[in-house]
Amino acid sequence: MSQRTLVILKPDAVRRGLVGEIIGRIERKAGWSVTAMELRTLDRATLEQHYAEHEGRPFYEPLMEFMASGPSVVMLVEGERVIEGIRALAGPTDPIGAPPGSVRGDFGTIVRENLIHASDSEESAERERKIFFPSFA
Ligand code: PPS
Repeated sequence: MSQRTLVILKPDAVRRGLVGEIIGRIERKAGWSVTAMELRTLDRATLEQHYAEHEGRPFYEPLMEFMASGPSVVMLVEGERVIEGIRALAGPTDPIGAPPGSVRGDFGTIVRENLIHASDSEESAERERKIFFPSFA
């Protein structure tokens, strides 16, 4: 089942020069491809839309501040079961518990700076696609 998902390589991934490494892992998966990509510093209004469901949570403000702290790489990725697949490739939210071989397991230590966001369902992927790439219907 071919799907499309929205992926953000967060400001820590860009600052640490891990963009090529992470995109390489995505591109090496059979049949997956990056179909849109932009280097962009996310503004507050965009982040409020993207993280609307988390407003009021204790991590909300630190997350917003971190996500606006420098450029991110925002991408659309398409391919077989890519929604579940990219989340597996990323690993769980807390990098310390993430398995070796996953992006967060290999490169992360702090929860806030967990390198990568990926949509968690087809509905989220479409909602997030509209926020970041409205013309890629
Ligand atoms: S939940 O409860 O499953 O919806 O939450 P979760 O998916 O684990 O986290 C939602 C997003 O918040 C980020 N997060 C944090 N950011 C900063 N600090 C702390 N402590 C923290 N905890 C969670 C987490 O990385 C998710 O962001 P995205 O961009 O989706 O990865």
